[in-house]
Amino acid sequence: MGTSAGALSSLLLGILLTSTPGALGANPGLVARITDKGLEYVAQEELVTLQSKLHDVTLPVFSGDAKIKYLGNAHYEFHSLNIHSCELLGSALKPLPSHGLHFSISDSFIRVKGKWKVRKRILKLDGSFDVTVKGITISVNLLLGSEPSGRPKVAVSSCSSDIRDVEVHMSGDLGWLLNLFHHQIESKFRRVLESKICKIIQDSVTSDLQPYLQTLPVTMEMDTFAGIDYSLMEAPQATAEILDVMLKGEIFSRDHRSPVAFLAPVMSLPEEHSRMVYFAISNYAFNTASLVYHKVGYLNFSITDDMVPPTSNIRLTTKSFRAFCPRLARLYPNTNLTLQGTVVSAPFLNFSPGNLSSAAQMEIEASVLLPNSVKEPVFRLGVATNVSVMLTFNTSKITGFLKPEKIQVELKESKVGVFNVELLEALLNYYLLNTLYPKVNDKLAEGFPLPLLKRIQLYDPVLQIHKDFLFLGTNVRYLRV
Ligand SMILES: *[C@@H]1O[C@H](CO)[C@@H](O)[C@H](O)[C@H]1NC(C)=O
Ligand SMILES: *[C@@H]1O[C@H](CO)[C@@H](O)[C@H](O)[C@H]1NC(C)=O
Ligand SMILES: *[C@@H]1O[C@H](CO)[C@@H](O)[C@H](O)[C@H]1NC(C)=O
Ligand SMILES: *[C@@H]1O[C@H](CO)[C@@H](O)[C@H](O)[C@H]1NC(C)=O
Ligand SMILES: *[C@@H]1O[C@H](CO)[C@@H](O)[C@H](O)[C@H]1NC(C)=O
Repeated sequence: MGTSAGALSSLLLGILLTSTPGALGANPGLVARITDKGLEYVAQEELVTLQSKLHDVTLPVFSGDAKIKYLGNAHYEFHSLNIHSCELLGSALKPLPSHGLHFSISDSFIRVKGKWKVRKRILKLDGSFDVTVKGITISVNLLLGSEPSGRPKVAVSSCSSDIRDVEVHMSGDLGWLLNLFHHQIESKFRRVLESKICKIIQDSVTSDLQPYLQTLPVTMEMDTFAGIDYSLMEAPQATAEILDVMLKGEIFSRDHRSPVAFLAPVMSLPEEHSRMVYFAISNYAFNTASLVYHKVGYLNFSITDDMVPPTSNIRLTTKSFRAFCPRLARLYPNTNLTLQGTVVSAPFLNFSPGNLSSAAQMEIEASVLLPNSVKEPVFRLGVATNVSVMLTFNTSKITGFLKPEKIQVELKESKVGVFNVELLEALLNYYLLNTLYPKVNDKLAEGFPLPLLKRIQLYDPVLQIHKDFLFLGTNVRYLRV
């Protein structure tokens, strides 16, 4: 871990974003799930990091006086001990119900090179030696939680390491030196090494991982209007093979955040393990976004005659309405009209297996443009439209695209008599296809950002649409610097 932060730091961090402990009982809008496959990958990456950190360990000098065969009492020193190779194998990371993780390494070995010195009055002997430390096992429990400050936390709740065997090689026939090592040094050496290993792990968590968690923002800006709340709703939940992180997943107005009047639905996540990480994003995230954009009038529009294409057989002038709405032309001769459109309520997305759609109800008020910028309302239309939504998920974002379907137009109210609105339908379709949908599609193309961290790359993404939520699966790759 550390500045060369391992995958555990990054992957967990990527997902364990900050938190305000949520109202109990509320459902998350977004769940990030790390599967057994993901945990396996993290364990593998962690091993590489630990291995490189072990190379930097400095071991103390072991010295003292001992009674040595043939020499009698002499002073000895084992010094310049260096870990010169290190093979960590058999790593595993498993969930520990209900809020923990268990990291283990087994069957590993380390080779240490060093020098020895023995002195008795003017007699000085020295040489070098090799130690192979075999059968190293490391076992670490990590406790995951959320802090009162609202941020996630991770702590080492226990760490133990064990060395099965220490083998010493010395050049020459120095049986007495071997004995000296076994009797005077070996147990101290084991203890030192065992505690160094746990110290590396403890330090990585307290000095690298935990402080990093403290700097994570709870929210992320999406644009000038909207932000997304990725706060943790509770401590991450571990079950037999997965780790689930429940996030709020609410999109809110940056100007004025107000409580949302509906709850996130319960999501029943499929049992899938073919990818390392899954994200379940409920309709709550999309519908809270819709509320925000609706409230700022993002979907309000107005159409004037200059926006009508020259080829159109209907223009927004009273003259053009003469044939099918004679009263309008009579009351307001040679006058321009304007259509003021608004989406009646925030359109919600309907998630059904395999399909995503939305229905919008619009209201359009037509006014004649009188001198001095006076607008006189003349009739009101109701417009209903269904749209299907296409989604794509590429490396970092989910982007959407609206595919409009036919619209239905009805005359709701008129001060100029009843008339057939079919001609206007063509005009409205033209406007929606060329102006409103492209505007919304531009916004959708900016995408929905996933709570990911730097240096995490996604590959092999899959996307499924389930009732009330999207389910994204992906493998991850940690980019070492
Ligand atoms: C959008 O249009 C409706 C109807 O004309 C209006 O009531 C509302 O204030 C508009 N919203 C904004 C933010 O302009
Ligand atoms: C009506 O709109 C057109 C633009 O399409 C403009 O050229 C014309 O001057 C307007 N007419 C009046 C009476 O404002
Ligand atoms: C999804 O929508 C398309 C187009 O609206 C439709 O043809 C298809 O049958 C739908 N699929 C499902 C699984 O409902
Ligand atoms: C939209 O879809 C609903 C349900 O399929 C249908 O009842 C309605 O008529 C459709 N509206 C339009 C404008 O196509
Ligand atoms: C992902 O989508 C964004 C937005 O559509 C696009 O700019 C980017 O090139 C895409 N990336 C990949 C790897 O396809």
